[in-house]
Amino acid sequence: MALIAPSILAADFGRLAEEARAVELAGADLIHVDVMDGHFVPNLTLGPDLVGALDKATELPLDVHLMVENPLDFVESFVRAGADWITVHCEVVDDVEAALSAIESHGCRASLAINPATPVEAVSPWIERAAMILIMSVVPGFGGQSFMENSLPKLQTLSDLKEKTGSECLLEVDGGVKADNISRVVEAGVDVVVSGSGIFGAADYSETIAAMHAA
Ligand code: DX5
Ligand code: ZN
Repeated sequence: MALIAPSILAADFGRLAEEARAVELAGADLIHVDVMDGHFVPNLTLGPDLVGALDKATELPLDVHLMVENPLDFVESFVRAGADWITVHCEVVDDVEAALSAIESHGCRASLAINPATPVEAVSPWIERAAMILIMSVVPGFGGQSFMENSLPKLQTLSDLKEKTGSECLLEVDGGVKADNISRVVEAGVDVVVSGSGIFGAADYSETIAAMHAA
């Protein structure tokens, strides 16, 4: 069964604490938090203070996805705010080992992401080293976009590699996944599914998350 991580970006920002508690009660496994800086992606979202507020509102682990140009400048403040997982993008990290170690040095789990245009070879060498690998299935920047098919062979390659190496690295997918297409990423071997509009846009969070778990 894949873990379900609602993306708080699609929640009602006027009622964030309530929304976080609602998905917790509805059976979510972690909460995905999209941090955007207006440089790495053409959008601005939220910072450590908001992560701190979420941390107070929910017991769920916070999965912080840094879509920023200088992710290592912000690791410490997000960990202090309550991040349990931190994901950085390969496209902006020169020294992957240093980035993973920097995140782990704060007692946080370290994850590596790639954009749809980045080949899977950018992350596959880290399968036995990273705690999680995130395959973007939309061009990052905005919620509510359509799922991109080229994420599926990447997930399959990584899940085959996991089997071959015995790695316990989690595979996460992010973007355009809803209850009606989740089975495709589950078949490709995903462990953690991020869904924003697919959950917060649904009438019943519990029913939606249960359907996603059942896929
Ligand atoms: C996109 C973000 C995603 C987004 C997912 O840049 O990284 O996490 O919030 O939203 P949906 O599920 O609506 O595509
Ligand atoms: Zn994300």
